[in-house]
Amino acid sequence: MDIRTRYLQEMGITQWVSRDPGLHPTSEMVVGQNLNIKAKDFIQTDQVMTDLSAQVDICRQCDLHRTRYTTVFGVGPIPADLMIVGEAPSAEDDRQGIPFVGRAGQLLASMLFSIGFELEDVYIANSLKCRPPDDRDPLAEELAHCNPFLLQQIQRIQPKVILTLGKVAVQSLLNTSESLAQLRNSGQLREVVGVPLIATYHPAYLLQSPAAKSESWKDLCRARQLLINGSSG
Ligand code: URA
Repeated sequence: MDIRTRYLQEMGITQWVSRDPGLHPTSEMVVGQNLNIKAKDFIQTDQVMTDLSAQVDICRQCDLHRTRYTTVFGVGPIPADLMIVGEAPSAEDDRQGIPFVGRAGQLLASMLFSIGFELEDVYIANSLKCRPPDDRDPLAEELAHCNPFLLQQIQRIQPKVILTLGKVAVQSLLNTSESLAQLRNSGQLREVVGVPLIATYHPAYLLQSPAAKSESWKDLCRARQLLINGSSG
């Protein structure tokens, strides 16, 4: 079985043929350490992001700085066409300073691969830059303190599309209490600082509820469509 088929199977997709040969990935994905090395190279060459990352490192605006091991700023090329926004670092992310290093990250890689992206092509950040203790849900005040950092990242990265993972990321970015189901199904294209936003399920949820993968696949296709021709319909 080739690598593409393997990743599509992980997404619950058994048949998918791209009509756009330009979107066929050809090489093995770069994950974990390799991603970090590349991302660090990018960050070091962008002074604005280096400065912003330094501000995050010394941030004490909420109590999460007391329990974090390190901050998890974000990784990826600057600029990037596609930006992923998750919820908050996991225990392992907190130790390594890199988002999505665990099992959810592997599924995220498969999700991206299924629409023709490798992890190293996209910028990945979270609503929170510090891990909430015991992986509890982020508090509203923590999100409110962290949101300006995320907005500045978006403005610097200038993505064509933002893909949010799970309800926390989308609700916090859009400042809404609408449910993820409403936000996914309304048919209305939302925007953050002028950038179109597609909401989908969090990979950690998809790992527990594989039946939702086919719904997530539709969101991913919408994002891909937006990237290709600027419209999701
Ligand atoms: N790791 C992250 O970086 N973000 C999440 O939302 C989950 C795990």
